[in-house]
Amino acid sequence: MHLLIDTASVDEIREAVRLGVVAGATTNPKLLSNEGASFDLRERILEIADLVGGPVSVEVLSEEPEEMLDEARLYASWSPNVVIKIPMSLTAMAVVSRLEHDGVRTNVTGLMALNQGVLASLAGASFVSFFFGRMSDLGLDPAPVIREAAELLHPHTRTRIIVGSIRNLMDINRSLLAGADYVTVPYAFLKQMAHHPKTVETIQEFNAAWARVRGDAQATTREMSLLGRL
Ligand code: E4P
Repeated sequence: MHLLIDTASVDEIREAVRLGVVAGATTNPKLLSNEGASFDLRERILEIADLVGGPVSVEVLSEEPEEMLDEARLYASWSPNVVIKIPMSLTAMAVVSRLEHDGVRTNVTGLMALNQGVLASLAGASFVSFFFGRMSDLGLDPAPVIREAAELLHPHTRTRIIVGSIRNLMDINRSLLAGADYVTVPYAFLKQMAHHPKTVETIQEFNAAWARVRGDAQATTREMSLLGRL
């Protein structure tokens, strides 16, 4: 069970890494476009790769297999943390198998159905990415698809399952419960995962009770420090 951060923003990634809760990052051309047009792609990816110290997915834009291979090899040469995101298609399977054969990890992306995950895994993909929110947009329940993918892939292959396109906290919970190895989430969801109004209310109640009897928290800290307990 791992979380990835789904963004190309260095500030968000730095903060997520500081929290110690993410194992890597996923980008895509749209997320990179959100960062504007002035940054250098190689520098940005290297900065992200250094920060996360884990897999960083970078998606190819080329659509022809030979061009996809060239683009993938270029990105992979930047850092061993780079994982090449390959949009799902039949012709892309040959690209995936060539790259994996050459030791370049791939993440086959944009999956909406189990059969796509099976094919990508058979081609040797290190990761497959199912898109929870976009599957829901089609009127499908993504959780059974993820569960079936986990049942098929986990015992028989080395392919790891990523779930992206997260729209709310239930999507994260349901993905993990269904057997996703990774859920990739925008930074805003990390904040939401931590927050519960009843938790805030409870801690405030406890601290107020202490303060009524023993004074404010700073006074308490000073007192404990004098007693040698801090
Ligand atoms: C996953 O790797 C993708 O970057 C992402 O989660 C796509 O999500 P979207 O549906 O919000 O575009």
